[in-house]
Amino acid sequence: MATVTFDNASRVYPGQERPAVDNLNIEIGDGEFLVLVGPSGCGKSTSLRMLAGLEEIDAGRILIGDRDVTDVPPKDRDIAMVFQNYALYPHMTVADNMGFALKIAGTPKAEIRKRVEDAAEILDLTEYLDRKPKALSGGQRQRVAMGRAIVRSPQVFLMDEPLSNLDAKLRVSTRTQIASLQRRLGVTTVYVTHDQTEAMTMGDRVAVLDRGVLQQIDSPRRMYDHPNNVFVAGFIGSPAMNLFDAPLSDQGVEFGGAIIPVDRSTLSETDETHVTVGVRPEDLEIAPDNQGLAVEVDLVEELGADAFIYGRRVGSEETAKPFIARVDARRPPAKGETVYFRPSPEHTHLFDAKNGQRLGD
Ligand SMILES: Nc1ncnc2c1ncn2[C@@H]1O[C@H](COP(=O)(O)OP(=O)(O)OP(=O)(O)O)[C@@H](O)[C@H]1O
Ligand SMILES: [Mg+2]
Repeated sequence: MATVTFDNASRVYPGQERPAVDNLNIEIGDGEFLVLVGPSGCGKSTSLRMLAGLEEIDAGRILIGDRDVTDVPPKDRDIAMVFQNYALYPHMTVADNMGFALKIAGTPKAEIRKRVEDAAEILDLTEYLDRKPKALSGGQRQRVAMGRAIVRSPQVFLMDEPLSNLDAKLRVSTRTQIASLQRRLGVTTVYVTHDQTEAMTMGDRVAVLDRGVLQQIDSPRRMYDHPNNVFVAGFIGSPAMNLFDAPLSDQGVEFGGAIIPVDRSTLSETDETHVTVGVRPEDLEIAPDNQGLAVEVDLVEELGADAFIYGRRVGSEETAKPFIARVDARRPPAKGETVYFRPSPEHTHLFDAKNGQRLGD
């Protein structure tokens, strides 16, 4: 086991002006499960490949434990990687697939057999050891790919979207299995996904990237309750946080006849006359006296336990994004109705209208 450190690490692909990964600084604890998440093209795979030694590092360093591995070839880094497509050898049995790296490394046969059997036991693959990959389900193939990483007992596991080839239901059960397996083995893990739900449910900490730049690294809870900027606020959470512009007054933020009080020190953090307000769908309540944000309901989504309304703010020009609110599942408003919402002041997020940075705590 080991810590992993990205120390001002950057990657600029040949012929590109902007770095794909820009001055990345992350310190991952021994045994930690860190998830890298962000939209397509934000630099997740590049970061992971830099750590694996599959991608050059143009500036900065990468350390595994105390060892600077920046110029160490992949095979000498003591890591094991699980890819999205599993990359299993079709002509080999499950057992041979799992033991292949050990065989290449010259590990004695009996030792390989033992390690493969132990891993198969953990992954519930014992009865499939003599099969070929084509005779396995998607979920079983995924477990063989995991097994191949486990038998090597590496210092660090690297996983790049290992669940994206599974159907939605299997993805949910497999993500729990991987998270609990990682906790049992205690191996430091860097896991890449573009799915924020996966990130939030699996990671000890989550690192959000956008355009090659680290936006925030925090526990899932902290990230959800305290996004550092508008990008993280909009990216983490499903359905997404409502973000809209509102004018500032001496007392606070004004909208729809309601005033959200804001303390002076928070107000003094911005020079703008407006702020970007963020409210999660579950932090809105219906205002009984019609004092609040008027929203015309376009769609009611009933999910059983919850119901969400998707609507438009009356009198607002922001029509691109719907306004989303969680409502009483037993008595949801009807389509076409106008409903007044009041945000809960302690769960209202404020961001600088220009640079998008969080204001106050
Ligand atoms: N070999 C390459 N040469 C030039 N540019 C590249 C190369 N590989 C990736 N890029 C660019 O670098 C950026 C980051 O790519 P990367 O594959 O790390 O994204 P990602 O976050 O893993 O995205 P996805 O979720 O789609 O897998 C993208 O803009 C991509 O187009
Ligand atoms: Mg990728």
